[in-house]
Amino acid sequence: MEIRGKAGVITGGGSGIGRATAERLAREGAAVVVADLDQAGGNETVKRIEDAGGKAVFVHADVVKIEDARRMLNTAITKFGRLDILHNNAGIGVGAPGFPDAPPERWHLVVEIDLQAVILGTGLAAPLMQKNGGGVIINTASMAGLYPHRQDAVYGAAKGGVVNFTHSLASWEAERKIRVNCICPGIVDTPLVRKGLEQAEKFGIKSWLPSKMIQPEEIADAIVTLVRDDSLFGCSLEVRPTGRHIVDPRPAPGSRR
Ligand SMILES: NC(=O)c1ccc[n+]([C@@H]2O[C@H](COP(=O)([O-])OP(=O)(O)OC[C@H]3O[C@@H](n4cnc5c(N)ncnc54)[C@H](O)[C@@H]3O)[C@@H](O)[C@H]2O)c1
Repeated sequence: MEIRGKAGVITGGGSGIGRATAERLAREGAAVVVADLDQAGGNETVKRIEDAGGKAVFVHADVVKIEDARRMLNTAITKFGRLDILHNNAGIGVGAPGFPDAPPERWHLVVEIDLQAVILGTGLAAPLMQKNGGGVIINTASMAGLYPHRQDAVYGAAKGGVVNFTHSLASWEAERKIRVNCICPGIVDTPLVRKGLEQAEKFGIKSWLPSKMIQPEEIADAIVTLVRDDSLFGCSLEVRPTGRHIVDPRPAPGSRR
């Protein structure tokens, strides 16, 4: 899909991967709705985009709330006249002291934000995208959704759900003209990771960061590939410090799976 002239919504756009994606899509010529719980972070992303000559608006939204999700998606229509791209990206981890020692409310919230909100955003966006001929949805999963994740099993389960949900919507490309893909990054240098490490230290949990971390801009670049490349739908794009790998579980043509 050509990005110039399109409109997108990026959840968790006030920080890290979401901010980098919002800035990159705006630079490529899309108008962007930056949705986040963090007002200061969201406004900062919008300011950076506008200062660079792009179009953006901030919406204060909690992605787990149905009315907030509706409002952030409708903002793309009311402000920019269309919705073509949705990046379901907001996410959190359980954090120290981990599962099952952290309060149950915390594990519950991880599944709500990391999985349920992805399903909610996708379902609410589909009819809006179909109004202008289709669109592209990119869900931020994680490598933790592809492989066992010993440090945070609940996060891994939620992200694994996102991967399967995404793969299961491969047929939307033909049925609705909506391509749904997910991105599965390794460790990216963002506040989520840095804060998680600090919190772990407070609990006396020893952790470490790899010497070469992925930068948020590299994920934004991979997301641009997923938006542009019409041959990709129902796939995961794994991003490691050493490069990218497409996980393509789509059945062979003619298969009844
Ligand atoms: N950083 C990594 O190593 C890494 C690796 C793989 C996947 N991810 C995923 O990437 C996504 C972005 O993470 P990041 O590393 O940029 O983190 P981040 O903490 O820098 O950004 C996440 C943003 O999401 C927002 N957010 C959280 N809950 C929200 C809610 N209920 N409603 C709206 N906004 C909410 C936060 O306010 C924050 O601005 C997450 O889904 C995360 O799980 C991160």
